[in-house]
Amino acid sequence: MLRVGILTSGGDCQGLNAAIRAVGKALYLEFGKDVEIYGLRDGYKGLITGDVWKMTPNDFSGIINLGGTILGTSREPYKLLISGTPEAKEKIEGMKSTYKKLKLDCLVILGGNGTHKTANLLSELGMHVITLPKTIDNDLWGTDVTFGFQSAVAVAANVLDSIHTTATSHGRVFIVEIMGHKVGWLTLYAGIAGSANAILLPEIPYDTKVLARMIDKRSKNGKRFSIIAIAEGAMSKDEAKLNKREFRSKREQQAYPSVAYQLADELGQLTGHEVRVAVPGHIQRGGSPCPYDRVLATRFGAAAAKLIADKNWGNMVGMRDGVIVPVPLKEVAGKLKTVPLDNDVIQTARDIGITFGDK
Ligand code: F6P
Repeated sequence: MLRVGILTSGGDCQGLNAAIRAVGKALYLEFGKDVEIYGLRDGYKGLITGDVWKMTPNDFSGIINLGGTILGTSREPYKLLISGTPEAKEKIEGMKSTYKKLKLDCLVILGGNGTHKTANLLSELGMHVITLPKTIDNDLWGTDVTFGFQSAVAVAANVLDSIHTTATSHGRVFIVEIMGHKVGWLTLYAGIAGSANAILLPEIPYDTKVLARMIDKRSKNGKRFSIIAIAEGAMSKDEAKLNKREFRSKREQQAYPSVAYQLADELGQLTGHEVRVAVPGHIQRGGSPCPYDRVLATRFGAAAAKLIADKNWGNMVGMRDGVIVPVPLKEVAGKLKTVPLDNDVIQTARDIGITFGDK
C-alpha cells in the first residue's frame, strides 16, 4: 500500500484545487486500491498537530474550477521553525511524528517560497517530499511559471480596465497597487494587459519627478487621465539607497498605509492633479483559476504522481522552456526569481512608450 500525505501551505491562489485533483486522479489511476491519500489540514499546521483525514476519490472530483484550497492553508514561518526555541523543536518533532504515525511513503506539498524552504528542511530530515509551485507572485526559482500567476494577472488587468472608465470621467490620476511581494512579475504583466501608462516594479526604483513629467505631458496632449500600476514592493530611487533598517524606519515614520499612498501624496503635490489610489489586495488571489492555470496545475499535478511512482523524491515539479521537469528542492529553497532587468517584456513595454519611472 502506497500512503501519500498532501498539504497546501502559505498564501492561497487559484489553481490549488486543480493541482490537488490532478495528483489524486493520476495516483488512483496508477495505483487503484493500492494507494491511500491523506489530506493534512491548514498546511504544515496539519502535519504538526496530526490534523488529517483519509481522502476518497470523490474528494478530487468537481474541483478544477474551484478557487482557494479544499485542504485549507496557513502560514508557518520557516524562520520561526528553525529558530531552535522549544516551541520550534516541538513543531518539528510533531511533523516527524505525524509522518511516522501515518506510515507515509511521501508528502506532496503545494506552496510558494516560504513553503519550499520548509519542504527542503523536511526532505533533509529524511522525509520523501515532492512539491508543486504555486503563487500569484511567480517568484519561485527553478520554474518559468507558477500556477495562480495568470489568474491573478487577469484579475489585476480587469481592475486596471475598470479604473480607466472612472479615471477618464473625472480626469484623474489613478495609482493601482498590485500584489507580488518583493517582485514585479504580476505588476509587469497586468500593467501591460491593463494598459497602464506607468509600471513601477521593485526591480526598477522610480523617480517621482519622472512620473510627474509623464502626467503633465499626457495632460498637455489632451489626455484627461493617467494610470500607474505600482507593485506593493516598489520603492523610489532615494529609498533604494537606504539599508533595510533605514528603509523600514523611513516608511514607519511616514506612516502611509502602503507605497501607493506615499506616491499619491507626492504626485498630488508635484503636479496639482487629483490623484486616487485603488488597492485590489486579496481579490487578486480569489475566484476561479483561468483556463491556463487549470491546465498548468493539471500538468504539474500529474507529473507529481509520476515522480511518486518513480520514487524520485526531493524534487519540485517545474516548467522550463515549456517542458515539465523535476527540479531538486535543495536548488529551489531560499532563492527568489525576480524580473531580470533585460527581460524582453520590460523592453516591449518601453517600446510602446510605457514608463518604468526610472528615466
Ligand atoms: O505571496 C502571495 C501574496 O499574495 C503576496 O503577493 C502578498 O504580499 C502576500 O501574499 C499577502 O499575504 P497575506 O495573505 O498573508 O496577507
